[in-house]
Amino acid sequence: MKIRKQSLKSWSGLIEEYREFLEIEEDEKIITLNEGNTPLVRAYQLEKYCLEQDSALKNLEIFLKVEGANPSGSFKDRGMTMAITKAVNRNLKTMVCASTGNTSASAAAYSARARSLGFKNVQCLVLIPEGKIAFGKLSQALIYGAKVVQIKGNFDQALQIVRQLSENESSIALVNSVNPDRLEGQKTAAFELFDQLGKSFDILSIPVGNAGNISAYWRGFKEFSRSLRINKEKILPKIFGFQAAGASPIIKGKIVENPETLATAIRIGNPASWDLAIKAIQESEGRIAAVSDQEIIEAYKLVHAQEGITCEPGSAASVAGLIKSCREQKVPNYSRIVCILTGNGLKDPQTAIEASGFEPVTCQAEPKKVLELIGQLQKI
Ligand code: F0G
Repeated sequence: MKIRKQSLKSWSGLIEEYREFLEIEEDEKIITLNEGNTPLVRAYQLEKYCLEQDSALKNLEIFLKVEGANPSGSFKDRGMTMAITKAVNRNLKTMVCASTGNTSASAAAYSARARSLGFKNVQCLVLIPEGKIAFGKLSQALIYGAKVVQIKGNFDQALQIVRQLSENESSIALVNSVNPDRLEGQKTAAFELFDQLGKSFDILSIPVGNAGNISAYWRGFKEFSRSLRINKEKILPKIFGFQAAGASPIIKGKIVENPETLATAIRIGNPASWDLAIKAIQESEGRIAAVSDQEIIEAYKLVHAQEGITCEPGSAASVAGLIKSCREQKVPNYSRIVCILTGNGLKDPQTAIEASGFEPVTCQAEPKKVLELIGQLQKI
């Protein structure tokens, strides 16, 4: 009897799937929630919209990589499966991070998973900027069982504090992207893109905050081309990175002391992987630019209402940046492009409700009244 469809091949998480690219020992116990293997979806309406921005531009093929489909709802899970696996196998018990929200949700989830897999004493402690993380992310850290400390300061200050803590205390594992295991896990997204597309592409568009992810993709792309023994110029995409205008230290070339943007995930003024990000941009002959909050919201609405895909505002910076690059005639004809949607829109329902411009209307529970109301709504 055939009991399962072959095409629904079971996926056992990115460490198992990409073991050959990762330094994992045979006897290491893997802490996984089957992360990775996220959807790559063609974005037809975004293609049309981008072509409208520049009348000379021809034939774009655009895909959205839906990283919000990871177990805790963001790309952070790719780095966290590696970081927590390595930490518990080294016998460390306290996982610590600073976060604009997603890292804390992911660290809390994988710490719980470590407990589930027998590392019973694993704890998670997260530092977040008070009042500046989306509600969904805060709720995740709490319910996964992390100890949450809100500081009266921003992400950059929180990161400085946890770095000091981990330097002075050898039992702590710092699981921010300054931990090299994080980027190792995150680089697997680059392999996945080639595996899913089955061909090369021209541009990778990605939001930039602490600059770990952009660096991890570039590392992954280079390792992939080396493994195929193909000259990197022949196969690798240009990296287009985008920061929010109010939090754009790399574009300004100096630290932003008080970063501000509604895209709280990337509200960062002093990225830890600044130099690696510049290297990725230069080596790939890409670009880094800023997008305004208004441009982020324009892209955020388009991705939801025209493509049916959810992402959070910080993620929409990749799409906003692509649209802007088309306006500025920085995108060649016939480009094949992937935009990374880094996190799930459900993490930030408040911004979704405000950006939608709609309010639900209330009606009595009577068919006639509902019909009348529907008639009125259709005229709007
Ligand atoms: N998109 C989302 C949804 C994020 O949460 C982050 C970073 C980024 C993009 C930027 O990635 O830092 O590697 O350049 N969030 C971190 C956090 C800082 O604490 O969750 P990056």
